[in-house]
Amino acid sequence: MSKKIKALIFDLDGILVSTEHNHFIAWKNTAKVLGISFDKYDNEQLKGISRADSLTKILKLGNKTISEQYFNELLTKKNDFYLNSIQALNQENVLPGVLNLLKKAQEFGLKCAVGSSSKNARLILTKLDIDRYFNVIVDGNDVSHPKPHPEVFLKGAELMGVDPAECIVFEDAQSGIQAAKAGGFLAFGVGNPALIDQAAYYLTTLNEFSLEEYA
Ligand code: BG6
Ligand code: MG
Repeated sequence: MSKKIKALIFDLDGILVSTEHNHFIAWKNTAKVLGISFDKYDNEQLKGISRADSLTKILKLGNKTISEQYFNELLTKKNDFYLNSIQALNQENVLPGVLNLLKKAQEFGLKCAVGSSSKNARLILTKLDIDRYFNVIVDGNDVSHPKPHPEVFLKGAELMGVDPAECIVFEDAQSGIQAAKAGGFLAFGVGNPALIDQAAYYLTTLNEFSLEEYA
């Protein structure tokens, strides 16, 4: 029999909602402004990491250095572009299996948290109208060490009053799986296993997850 779980922690982008493509297009624009070529394979390296770390990686790809002022300007422009592209986001954009799992977790008395690198997490959860399902939200505004550091998930577990070993983390990014494992959580990779190494288990969508086995 599987180990009993007391809480679930969900990454946001790519787990609760399909905003990763919007991030990709916004970064592609930024890279273009910098004269750096950037494709979806390069984008895989940015999944899960913070906004500032993403721009640092793009600059490294192009072997470029820029002033701090321009760096911050590009971050603001990228975010404005991104926010504009997700204006129409609503509950229809919640990924398959999410709502059922959140409702089931409530029925089973499990706590739920969001553990995201995004500083837009609260805004997006409100747009999706799913914020009420979460006991705890920890996002990019609440941590000093972004993924792959485990701080975001450790903080989530602490606020829920559960041990990491009693929590499942759902992640679509390599940096997120690393963070979950480093924190001692049970890491479920959602998406293409070739792109997310080292998860304990893999799911194509959250529809495949059976809470009954763990609760
Ligand atoms: C992560 C995404 O959740 O948040 C990344 O996977 C994104 O693609 C990062 O860059 C930061 O998000 P934001 O909304 O603060 O720019
Ligand atoms: Mg993600």
